[in-house]
Amino acid sequence: MNISITKATELKKKPTREEEGSLGFGKRFSDHMFMMNYDNGEWHDARIVPYQKLSFDPSCAVFHYAQEIFEGLKAYRADDDRILMFRARDNAERLNNSAVRLCMPTIDIEDNYEAMRQLVQVERDWVPHSAGTSLYLRPTMIATDEALGVHASKSYLYYIICSPSGAYYKAGLAPIRIRVEDRYVRAVRGGTGFAKTGGNYACSILAGAEAEKEGYSQVLWLDGEHMKYVQEVGAMNMMFLIDGKLVTAPLEDTILPGITRRSVMTLAREMGIEVEERPLSVEELIEAGDSGKLTEAFGTGTAAVVSPVGELAYRDKHIYLGDKSVNNGIGELTMKLYNTLTGLQWGRIPDTHGWVTDIDKK
Ligand code: PLP
Ligand code: COI
Repeated sequence: MNISITKATELKKKPTREEEGSLGFGKRFSDHMFMMNYDNGEWHDARIVPYQKLSFDPSCAVFHYAQEIFEGLKAYRADDDRILMFRARDNAERLNNSAVRLCMPTIDIEDNYEAMRQLVQVERDWVPHSAGTSLYLRPTMIATDEALGVHASKSYLYYIICSPSGAYYKAGLAPIRIRVEDRYVRAVRGGTGFAKTGGNYACSILAGAEAEKEGYSQVLWLDGEHMKYVQEVGAMNMMFLIDGKLVTAPLEDTILPGITRRSVMTLAREMGIEVEERPLSVEELIEAGDSGKLTEAFGTGTAAVVSPVGELAYRDKHIYLGDKSVNNGIGELTMKLYNTLTGLQWGRIPDTHGWVTDIDKK
């Protein structure tokens, strides 16, 4: 794929080292973006252009029927200034799986990888330097037909934007409070739960807003059929250390197959921890909490990395995890996995899995 590059004539002010400490997540955007269009059955005009506002007809398909998919991945600055990406081809592959479900065109994985790689090369000075910061990439595909009929669009726009980011949660690496949601559901069997599509997030906002009012960071979804089995939270897969085994919900079509989830499962197994992908009911979880068998819980996600959970609430029941006087309440395994994963991502630990790619090497 040939990618044309048009550089911005005026560059934005990049965050200073001091500002890097308070970047938060997804609030600032870099100088350039990648775009390409799909018409008549093919992708064309792959280009890196100045970051810009997009203009569409009010009838544009994506505005009405949410034919939209996206991805999330990061570029990291190593101590020696190499810029690394983590499992970027896995994101390209998952985008295609989402595309098939949403009746959208797929993109050749190597072409998509090349788009991300070249964009990050152009934006390398936007990859922040401070510990825990990175350049978050948001690949996005939208349906662009101008028509109100409910059909698959024939035209699409694919774009990638970059956002220098720090911690996803306000408090940084600190235990979060999660509430088990027992009224609303996020996904049902046969639906779009496994796809990374805007609708899954739109339908989760009300539950998240209600939980936030009560001081929780996110809700833990239960399965839509029985309201019984633990699924995932808004932006993370969930793992529970029960009786020394790491338990996580199996990948059915209601759960996003997280790349961090997959990586953490591999790393935990390499640490000698047994990992179980199995249905976990909320009753079992609460019982394990009561009996002390549940010793750690954490979420996994690109934005959230490995996020310790300090409190799980289900109806009027509260399970507290971690001892605040020890490592800020972050469990031993959670911390070890966080350190190993981030060590690999920032190039401090040699990559034996083939997960890390250097943007300056083809
Ligand atoms: N589950 C949901 C709903 C998400 O939005 C995310 C974030 O991408 C994840 C899980 C974690 O996926 P990954 O580790 O690939 O970022
Ligand atoms: C990510 O971790 O990349 C995500 O997409 C989470 C996002 C919904 C905030």
